[in-house]
Amino acid sequence: MPEEKRIIAGIYHLSKRLSRHFTLKDINFQVANGEFVFLVGPSGAGKSTLLRMMYMDDVPDSGQVIVGRFVSTRMKRSTICSLRRKIGIVFQDFRLLEDRTVFENVAVAMKVSGRGMSEIKREMTDILSRVGLYHKRYECPAALSGGEQQRVAIARAIANRPSILLADEPTGNLDPYVTKEIMELLFKINSGGTAVLLATHDVELVRSFGQRTIYLEDGRVVKDSGRVFEGDLLRSISDSQVERRAREFRDRRIGRGEKQDGTGNTNRPEGGG
Ligand SMILES: Nc1ncnc2c1ncn2[C@@H]1O[C@H](COP(=O)(O)OP(=O)(O)OP(=O)(O)O)[C@@H](O)[C@H]1O
Ligand SMILES: [Mg+2]
Repeated sequence: MPEEKRIIAGIYHLSKRLSRHFTLKDINFQVANGEFVFLVGPSGAGKSTLLRMMYMDDVPDSGQVIVGRFVSTRMKRSTICSLRRKIGIVFQDFRLLEDRTVFENVAVAMKVSGRGMSEIKREMTDILSRVGLYHKRYECPAALSGGEQQRVAIARAIANRPSILLADEPTGNLDPYVTKEIMELLFKINSGGTAVLLATHDVELVRSFGQRTIYLEDGRVVKDSGRVFEGDLLRSISDSQVERRAREFRDRRIGRGEKQDGTGNTNRPEGGG
């Protein structure tokens, strides 16, 4: 029997003025347990700001954010730490500890949740296998491709079994092939029951999956497509879509004046992948 749907994160009449030029205006949406939701909008629309409100790095001027049992209007410094241990967060630039191994990067997140080393070791095999990196557990981030580094960040984000994963442009530094792999990994994690809220400016990427999409423009929600598909959420991007995205990615890079090698591959910002 399907699990009953309940709201695990909600934004209620949130407004926040960030500058003379930008205000988040009366934002309302909720995410149910196990849902996969895209938050899409052009650069500067307010996606990162909104996610920051959800992990309570900033507070609304009015309205409320509720994530699990945490309510933005009742947060203290100590409860913010508890909230961060209950949700997973993934960023475009990975934010790994460069002088620690893959194992240690993930272990740190588990340790701050009060878990002992024997439990960490016991669970690590499963966590790193889920992201396909068990064999690289003793490598440091510098020895990994961008896609692998993002997998480590995802492993760290899911290590404490969060009910929701917030991802801010998680494939923004990755080429289309690696983007596809990371998206499939996020869908796999989602199909295990973790809700995912993924912010991106990449409308094409969003369209290729057909999931619920919340459109943000100039600080306002202009459309929320609602839940589109029930059941199996994993839908692969077709190879032709990947080819097209690869071309667009390369053209954008060339447009920015970045170098190409003789094989037609662009040099990735993260140094391979
Ligand atoms: N701390 C801040 N102080 C003042 N203005 C800010 C601050 N943070 C963000 N802004 C402004 O708020 C607006 C929304 O920024 P935000 O980073 O949330 O957009 P975004 O949708 O994530 O864009 P991108 O796709 O480029 O990441 C922008 O105009 C930005 O300049
Ligand atoms: Mg952003």
